[in-house]
Amino acid sequence: MAITVKSQREIELMRESCKLLGDVFHNMEKAIRPGISTKDIDILGEKLIRAHGCVPNFLHYNGYPASICVSVNDEVVHGIPHKDHILQEGDIVSLDAGLIYKGYHSDMARTFPVGQVTEEAKLLIERTRQSFFDGIKMAKAGNHLFDISNAIDASIRPYGYGIVRDLVGHGIGTKLHEDPQIPNFAQKRRGPKILAGMTFAIEPMINIGRADVEWLDDDWTVVTEDGSLSAHYENTILITEGEPEILTLYEK
Ligand code: MF3
Ligand code: CO
Repeated sequence: MAITVKSQREIELMRESCKLLGDVFHNMEKAIRPGISTKDIDILGEKLIRAHGCVPNFLHYNGYPASICVSVNDEVVHGIPHKDHILQEGDIVSLDAGLIYKGYHSDMARTFPVGQVTEEAKLLIERTRQSFFDGIKMAKAGNHLFDISNAIDASIRPYGYGIVRDLVGHGIGTKLHEDPQIPNFAQKRRGPKILAGMTFAIEPMINIGRADVEWLDDDWTVVTEDGSLSAHYENTILITEGEPEILTLYEK
């Protein structure tokens, strides 16, 4: 399938979808503290999405049973919220969520510290975020897709962290997952050319230890094989002739 190029009207709808999702994250972030359950976060997130008149796009996606993916510590992504899973001081928690606004999808993720966390956890979170920004320096019209992948890889490589290979970023628009797939590790080919009007979800998933992941028996939760901490940072971006527009960035 071809990579879709959005019209001006579609870009406006993507912007609004992403802006509303940023607001949802802003409010979920404020709720993160020791003692809250991962299910409480899901309930809050779904409420915030619906309060904007939007629909959570993860809910029932391939059978996923919640609106917000909540992944704690060695959980990489797609953690299933549960009322008995209580966040503890020192945990790190990754929230991944998206919504549909007038038919247009948004998708983003952040990893947050719960109270005081170790220095190594802070560094993992910050370097994962930085790898996204290093990656999107290459995200401009005329470049090739895997320039982004190579730049994320180069950003992380000096730290010796594991870059998750089993899950990747993606195009996004009238569907949550559109072409192309966007790996976060170095590629041997250049990949397709990037054009203005394309919208991508760029989402490095980085482990302190090895890159290998496995799936829990719930068939959703992805965890690091070695039990090491993992962080996730994702934004939906718009390709332009110059700097990309980060549509879901709410921290300003
Ligand atoms: N957020 C994931 C992504 O970035 C998709 C999660 S789908 C769900 O592609 F079903 F797990 F929610
Ligand atoms: Co995504």
